[in-house]
Amino acid sequence: MTNKDKKKIMILGASILQLPAIEKAKEMGLEVIAVDMNPEAVGFSVPGIIKEVISTIDTPSILEAAKCHRIDGIMTLASDMPMQSVAVVSHEMGLVGISSDTALKATNKAFMRDALKENGVPIPLYYRVKGKKSFIEAVDQIRKAGYKCIVKPADNSGSRGVDLLSPDSDLDKAYEYTVSNSRGGEIVVEEFMEGPEVSVETLAIDGDVHVIQITDKITTDAPYFVEMGHSQPSKLSAEIKSKIAEVAIAANMAIGIQNGPSHTEIKVTKEGPKIVELGARLGGDCITTHLVPLSTGVDMVKCSILIALGERPNLESKWDRGSAIRYFNTDIGIIKKITGVEQAKKMAGVTQVTVVHGIGEQIGQIQNSVDRVGFVIANGRNADDAVCNCEKALKVIDVCVRR
Ligand SMILES: Nc1ncnc2c1ncn2[C@@H]1O[C@H](COP(=O)(O)OP(=O)(O)OP(=O)(O)O)[C@@H](O)[C@H]1O
Ligand SMILES: [Mg+2]
Repeated sequence: MTNKDKKKIMILGASILQLPAIEKAKEMGLEVIAVDMNPEAVGFSVPGIIKEVISTIDTPSILEAAKCHRIDGIMTLASDMPMQSVAVVSHEMGLVGISSDTALKATNKAFMRDALKENGVPIPLYYRVKGKKSFIEAVDQIRKAGYKCIVKPADNSGSRGVDLLSPDSDLDKAYEYTVSNSRGGEIVVEEFMEGPEVSVETLAIDGDVHVIQITDKITTDAPYFVEMGHSQPSKLSAEIKSKIAEVAIAANMAIGIQNGPSHTEIKVTKEGPKIVELGARLGGDCITTHLVPLSTGVDMVKCSILIALGERPNLESKWDRGSAIRYFNTDIGIIKKITGVEQAKKMAGVTQVTVVHGIGEQIGQIQNSVDRVGFVIANGRNADDAVCNCEKALKVIDVCVRR
C-alpha cells in the first residue's frame, strides 16, 4: 500500500494518555497525525507519525490542519479537553463523531445533569448554582432532603474542586475551594449517593450502544475519592449488572452519543444505579487500554479507531476472564529506595508493574491521581483471582520512604 492509499487518523493529544491510540493506529497501518501543544510530548516520538504542534483546544487551527491533511477520522483517547475539537472537525468534514451539543453535555457537569434529568435517567438530587448565596441555599436544600452534600465545579475534571461536605464544613471555605477550580464559576451541588461505584465501558455504532465491560472501583475515603484500584468483571449480581447496563445506555442516548466510546461512572444506590457522570471517550487508569483486553479480548482502542474511520468493528467478547489494577499504597515522606519490582513482574498473572515516582521525590497524602506512586496490573481466572495476583505482587514491592 502506498502512503496515498493509507487512511488517515488524527489523534488529539500525544501525552502518555493517548500513546496507546497512536501506537495502535500505527500498528494498524494507518497514517497518524498526532496533535499536541507540547513539542516534547511522548507520543511524538513514535516513528513515522506526522506531528502537529497545536493545542487540542485550538479548534480553528486543528480544523485547518485536518483539512490540509484530508483526514478520514478524528479521535482522542481518555481526555475530555479535546472533545469540542473532535466534534467541530468531524461535523465540518462529514466524518463520524459527536456533535458540539453532545461534547458540551459530556464535559460540563451542569448541562450533563440537565440532559440526564430531561430524559428520565436516574441521577441524584442536584442544583446548578452561581455565587455564594445560592451555593449555601442549595447545600441547605440537599441537607433538608436528608442527604450528605457533595459539590463540584461544572467545568473541570480529575476530581479538581470536588468536595464532600461534612455537617461542620465551613461553607465559605468550601465555596471558595470549588469556585477556584471552576472556569465559568458555575457549581453543581449534589446529593451524595451511597453505595458501590462502578464504571461502564461502551462503544456505540449508529446509535446502538454496546456495553463492553463493567468495572468495580475502589477509592480512597472522603473527601478526595482517589481511585486506588479497578477490577473486572464487576462482582455485583447479574440482575444489578443488567440494570447498570440499562442506565449507562440510557445516559449515552440522553447525551446523544451515536458513535464512539463512552466511560460512564455509576453509583449503585439502594434505589438502583444512578449516574455520577459520563465522558464521550475511553476510560483512563488503564481500564480500556489494559484491563478490558485482558478480561474480554476486545481491543477497545482499535475498535474506537475503526469507528472514527466509519467502519463497524466486531465488538463481541472473546473470553470471560478477570483483570485488575492496584496502585501502591505508599507512606508519606521522601522515596529512599524501591525494591521488588523485577520480582513482582515475574509473578503469576502479573502483566505489568509501573513506577511513576522515583527516588528523592516527596510523597504526600494522596489527593489526586498524580500522587499515586505506581501500579500493578494482573489477570486471573476471575476478578478475585486477578485482584489476589495484584496483591501478592504489591507485597513484594517495597517503597521505602524517609519522613
Ligand atoms: N453525587 C455523588 N454521589 C456520590 N459520589 C460522588 C458524587 N459525585 C461525585 N462523587 C465521587 O467523586 C468522584 C469524582 O467526581 P466526578 O466524577 O463528578 O468528578 P471528576 O472531576 O470528573 O473526577 P474524575 O476525573 O476523578 O472522575 C466520583 O468518581 C465519585 O466517587
Ligand atoms: Mg468522574
